[in-house]
Amino acid sequence: MLTRRHFLRNSSTVAVGGLVASATLSRAADSSTPAPSVIKVGLIGCGGRGTGAALQALKADPGVRLTALADVFADRLDSSLATLKKMAAVANRIDVTPATSFVGLDAYQKVIDSGVDVVLLASTPAFRPEHFRAAVAAGKHVFCEKPVAVDGPGIRSVLASAAEAQRKNLSVMSGFCWRYDPRMRATVAQIHAGAIGDLRAIIATYHTGTLTTKFPGTRTPGQTDLEWQLRNWYNFTWLSGDHLVEQAIHNVDKIAWLMKQEMPTQAIAVGGRTVPAYGNTYDNFSVAYEYASGVRATLSCRQHDGVYNEVTDYVMGTEGIFSNGRLATQGITGKTNWKYTGPTRDMYQVEHDELFAAIRAGKPVNDGISMAHSTLMAIMGRMAAYTGQVVTWDRALNSEEVLVPATLDWNAPRPVAARAIPGQTKLA
Ligand SMILES: NC(=O)c1ccc[n+]([C@@H]2O[C@H](COP(=O)([O-])OP(=O)(O)OC[C@H]3O[C@@H](n4cnc5c(N)ncnc54)[C@H](O)[C@@H]3O)[C@@H](O)[C@H]2O)c1
Repeated sequence: MLTRRHFLRNSSTVAVGGLVASATLSRAADSSTPAPSVIKVGLIGCGGRGTGAALQALKADPGVRLTALADVFADRLDSSLATLKKMAAVANRIDVTPATSFVGLDAYQKVIDSGVDVVLLASTPAFRPEHFRAAVAAGKHVFCEKPVAVDGPGIRSVLASAAEAQRKNLSVMSGFCWRYDPRMRATVAQIHAGAIGDLRAIIATYHTGTLTTKFPGTRTPGQTDLEWQLRNWYNFTWLSGDHLVEQAIHNVDKIAWLMKQEMPTQAIAVGGRTVPAYGNTYDNFSVAYEYASGVRATLSCRQHDGVYNEVTDYVMGTEGIFSNGRLATQGITGKTNWKYTGPTRDMYQVEHDELFAAIRAGKPVNDGISMAHSTLMAIMGRMAAYTGQVVTWDRALNSEEVLVPATLDWNAPRPVAARAIPGQTKLA
């Protein structure tokens, strides 16, 4: 059973756990100690991304062995394991057995307690703060998919866990993969070095099709409310955070990165649903983020089929622009004319290559704060759109809106909360 107590655990409890795990980790981080030849990895959330992340972890380092899996559904775990076992290049390093295959709402803790060194967190977003807290409390290195929370209390929990990870010399690698893409890294480096002058505005779009095929919303006879919602998690705000937080957040993270981690002071947003669907999420948002420095960043996102779709970043500076949209000149133009011509690499693989290299070297990477901040930026946009109010950074960070229930019971009724209506839905 998942309890609210886990999300808001008091700091003294965390500190006691920290002492135990730091002693273990300091040995691993000591350069005089040979690195272990085997790094045991456990996966929590055996869906599409989790299966991919496990494969990338196995490919990143020849000493990696996948030893434990967790999912709330046995069929998801089984199909992930079957897929991974078909990968000839890594199949001989998959040591998952029935005894290390855990199913249920508490399966994550069993993976963490199974003797792994690293956990890959790739479940439905609602559970990330608790999974991250438990992993760090147990002294595990973490790969943490985005988004890292769906509400303000979740973000505060993630920030506390990120600080705890730092104290324990643990690596925390986020799934904000664009930060590991060679082309995007070179582009941001150019912009940060002044190639377009001073940054004045960013216009980002995340216009994509729907995920109706993956999450059809059909309900099989006998399925409880919780099972139906978990199987179709994307369309429920309490589970996914809505598509601004769940998907378009990649652009939000690029905005944060381009802004050198300066966070917006406030957000104003519009949004709604134009194509009827089950659940309570929107299908379009447009958010304007305002910064103390005078910069404004806007992000529009929508999920519609049969329309013109593309994902873009336009960055306007005092002496040039960068764009990657199909309808614009690609690259940097203006004072500097530049286009990336270097090698391309799979950013998802780069993430794991760098994570396991950091673990081997005893030089932890920690994306904890940036992953929490980017997620909060997206939550702030959703809060502004849902309510129609101006939402400040502090308001979002200190929000008491709790989307994830204190306890989850497979059989308890879980009515779907009403879809937000701007002007009527209150800021919490
Ligand atoms: N970085 C990227 O580009 C990228 C790409 C795809 C997905 N993702 C992220 O990865 C996460 C998973 O996405 P996905 O596409 O794999 O979804 P998915 O539905 O395919 O997989 C999620 C899995 O988590 C399981 N799960 C749900 N609650 C759980 C819990 N409490 N404990 C253990 N398992 C649980 C589900 O049963 C499911 O098997 C999402 O947060 C998504 O945003 C990131």
